[in-house]
Amino acid sequence: SNLDPHVLVIFGASGDLAQRKLVPAVFELFRGGYLPEKFALLGASRTDFTDEAFRNKVIFENEHFKSDGAKEEEIKAFSEKLFYQDLATYDGEKDIKALADRLKKLDKELGVGRNYIFYLSTPPKLYSTIPAALAKAGLNNNQDAWARLIVEKPFGYNEQSAIKLNREIQEHFPENTIYRIDHYLGKETVQNLLVTRFANGFFEPLWNRNYVQSVQITAAETVGVGSRGGYYDESGAMRDMVQNHLLQVLAHVAMEPPIRADAPSIRNEKLKLFQSLRPITKKDVKTHVVRGQYTEGITSEGKEVAYRDSPGVPEKSKTETYVAMKFFIDNWRWAGVPFFVRTGKCLPLKLTEVVITFKNPPQAIFAEYDDYAMSCDNQLIIRIQPDEGMALEFGMKVPGEGFRVKNVDMDFFYRDLTKNDVPEAYTRLLLDCMKGEPTLYARGDSVEAAWAFVDPILEAWEKDEVPLYSYPAGSWGPLQADALWSGGLGNGWRNPTSSLTDRK
Ligand code: BG6
Repeated sequence: SNLDPHVLVIFGASGDLAQRKLVPAVFELFRGGYLPEKFALLGASRTDFTDEAFRNKVIFENEHFKSDGAKEEEIKAFSEKLFYQDLATYDGEKDIKALADRLKKLDKELGVGRNYIFYLSTPPKLYSTIPAALAKAGLNNNQDAWARLIVEKPFGYNEQSAIKLNREIQEHFPENTIYRIDHYLGKETVQNLLVTRFANGFFEPLWNRNYVQSVQITAAETVGVGSRGGYYDESGAMRDMVQNHLLQVLAHVAMEPPIRADAPSIRNEKLKLFQSLRPITKKDVKTHVVRGQYTEGITSEGKEVAYRDSPGVPEKSKTETYVAMKFFIDNWRWAGVPFFVRTGKCLPLKLTEVVITFKNPPQAIFAEYDDYAMSCDNQLIIRIQPDEGMALEFGMKVPGEGFRVKNVDMDFFYRDLTKNDVPEAYTRLLLDCMKGEPTLYARGDSVEAAWAFVDPILEAWEKDEVPLYSYPAGSWGPLQADALWSGGLGNGWRNPTSSLTDRK
């Protein structure tokens, strides 16, 4: 490994994310030989653990710890890099002093140095207190060493709170040391959107208003809120998925070519894209956005109770578990092209895909042979997950008399490119932060711009100016979402189960 020695401090280390994602991701890096030899992971939170109890929780007794094929010695060697510091509070002077002392001690004993990554995996209300406390202890900038801060979602609650949070953090950490994580950016297929567009000559000429009829992005989940009701009810699908993950995917689909593939160039283009989104004003919300909440039903996971009956959710909750929306991008490339985005819990499939629908040829000269030829969809389907890959659908002649046309597809699966599993998002993102490479993290200004776009919608909902529809768990959401396509905008939501590519 050519990484600098460092310590990864995870605040909120006794929580769910550390167990499910972070520690397994660090182990992947360890196994892959990416970690520097001088490295330590220091868990910190309010639970009273010894180093050993922490290791047990996140490694030996952790069902999410992926040890397939790992040797016992390997796991043991990894476990010895993990330490734990309990904190009574996160900002108490005594606590931060204890943390600073512990870091000093780790350096003394292990020679891990004074470079730090501070990972905030805590409740969001601590996102500004911890950096301030770190600064008090001088941990935010120590001579000859670096300090970086990873901030988990949600970054703010609306535009105003995101601006405030940016200011508070930036007081102690310069912007180029702040890593706002959006795990969708760690997905290979989301990154591949850039390669698809900018490493190929034949997509670029088509990728604009002249040839594209519509763009749709679907992120469907089969699970309900489960035990996350307390968090989710404050958030809802718009804040949980759209403002961050799906707008990031959109930016990769729609942004202008960056002048280089580096962080400032790519992030500048993303900001510009967010700034070009035509605002959905209060009066447009009704016709451009549909919100829904699931009721009891059967999903592929089994029987699901109504959202309102889930633990932690108020009986009269108006939080949306489904959003579908239509909007436009006011720039030269996309003028007049409708974009559609939908996401929801308790839908029939777990799947995220982007579908570019191309315009029909100017004349339907085969229509007399086959009505089907009229509706032949030229679509590029980019499967973000699962079955990572992409398919191009187009019409071909059916062998035999006349000119009957049938949709066929050319299909590429990522798994054909690599024998290894596609790396986990958190693994890739953590490695980037360790390298000091921020391209796949969200920049402060673009997070604010993304909030600015969704804020008016959230406000209209809060004031109850538009209906909240219900949909049975296991369905594709409220039927009203189909009406977003009215007015000849295109053929509507693609039904992923009808996919030609769905042949296992
Ligand atoms: C998280 C949301 O950020 O993303 C969850 O909080 C959601 O509600 C998850 O389930 C989806 O991520 P993925 O990688 O499973 O598509």
